[in-house]
Amino acid sequence: MLILTALLSYLLGSIPFGLLITRAFGLGDLRQIGSGNIGATNVLRTGNKLAALLTLICDVGKGAFAVIVARLTIGESAAQIAGFAAFLGHCYPLYLGFKGGKGVATFLGTVLALAWPIGIAVCATWLAVAAIFRISSLAALIVALLAPLYALALGAAPLALGLAAMALLIFLRHRANIARLRAGSEPRIGSKT
Ligand code: G3P
Repeated sequence: MLILTALLSYLLGSIPFGLLITRAFGLGDLRQIGSGNIGATNVLRTGNKLAALLTLICDVGKGAFAVIVARLTIGESAAQIAGFAAFLGHCYPLYLGFKGGKGVATFLGTVLALAWPIGIAVCATWLAVAAIFRISSLAALIVALLAPLYALALGAAPLALGLAAMALLIFLRHRANIARLRAGSEPRIGSKT
C-alpha cells in the first residue's frame, strides 16, 4: 500500500501543469521560453498572469493533495513519503523523460500539508524575499535553506530531515540560477527574459 501510494504520488507530481496550461492558453512550448523551466515563474514570462497563477495553484496543489490522500488512506507515516514522491515527480517527471522542474511550488504544497505552521512560515519567507529582491530563484533557495531549520525549531526532527533532502535537490535543480545570481544576471520576477 505504501509503495502504491508513493508511486501514485510520483505520477501525480509528474504532471507538468505549467507545460499543459501554457499550451492550453496557446502560449507555445514553455521549454522554449525564458529559463525553459516548467514552473509558474517561467509561465509568468509569457506575460499571462492567469496562466502563471493556475500553474502555481496546480503545482502547489499536487504536493498538498498527495500528502493529504496518503494521510487519509494510510496515515501520517505515509504522508511525508507521498509528499517527497510528488516532489520527485515534478523534478523528474516520467511523462517528460525525467526532465522536469525545480520543485519549489510542489515543495511548498508538501510542507503546507505536512505541517501548516511551517508551511505558512515558509510561504511568508518566500513572499518577503521575493518582495524585497524580486528574484524568484533567490526566494526559493533561501526558503529551501530555512525550511529544515523551521522544522527543527518546532521540534519536528524527522520532518526536518525530509525537508533537508528536498532542499538539497532544490539547490541541485537551481545550479544555472545560482550561476546567474553570482553573475548578477538572474532576471527579476515578471521580466520577459
Ligand atoms: O521556482 C522556480 C524558480 O525558483 C526559478 O525559476 O524560471 O527563474 O529558473 P526560473
